[in-house]
Amino acid sequence: MSAVMLAPELEDRLAALREAGWELFDKFDHEVRDRRWHPFVAANYESVLEALIARRAPGLTFLEWGSATGVITIMADLLGYEAYGIELDASLVETARALAERFDSKARFVAGSFLPEGYEWKPRDGDGRLGTIGQGRSGYLELGKALDEFDVVFGYPWAGEEAMMHDLMRCYGGRDARLMVHGTDRGVEVYRDGKKED
Ligand SMILES: C[S@@+](CC[C@H](N)C(=O)[O-])C[C@H]1O[C@@H](n2cnc3c(N)ncnc32)[C@H](O)[C@@H]1O
Repeated sequence: MSAVMLAPELEDRLAALREAGWELFDKFDHEVRDRRWHPFVAANYESVLEALIARRAPGLTFLEWGSATGVITIMADLLGYEAYGIELDASLVETARALAERFDSKARFVAGSFLPEGYEWKPRDGDGRLGTIGQGRSGYLELGKALDEFDVVFGYPWAGEEAMMHDLMRCYGGRDARLMVHGTDRGVEVYRDGKKED
């Protein structure tokens, strides 16, 4: 686990949460992904947990873009962040809410898109396709918070989608906010104002 010592009770709760998360993913894999393509692939929860522990501070708000079964948002809540998740697949949102209840977590989840209303991805090369990122009603209104109200934002983009996440933060993110990106092969990287932190 991380070099930072957590209370043993919290360590146990987080370990049980990760285990429950992998059980949910295995079930989803068999029941959904074996039948049709779906963008949900679970992150490396250990690596994300380490990044969350390293950045935690009292009163920080956290948002997960595409929160799926909710494991990461719930981890953030258990670590003391005020934590929220937005997920396009409403059935995954139900799963996340049930998991939060099971772990006595205050993490909140809404069904919708993490793309703010009216956002358009316009890269320099002109190819504004969104890849696996789906379209739907923006989730911020129901959340009651705008993107610039979050201190830490987490996203797990598929290959080629990371630049859009940086653009979203540049256009709508808070000035001092951090973007935590789970790369497909580089582990978790943290950016502030577009620059990678150590
Ligand atoms: C690669 S998975 C990551 C899941 C989870 N964040 C994790 O790291 O374990 C991406 C998730 O984003 C969701 N998603 C795709 N487009 C979205 C959108 N526009 N708004 C909200 N969620 C979206 C997918 O349904 C999927 O659950």
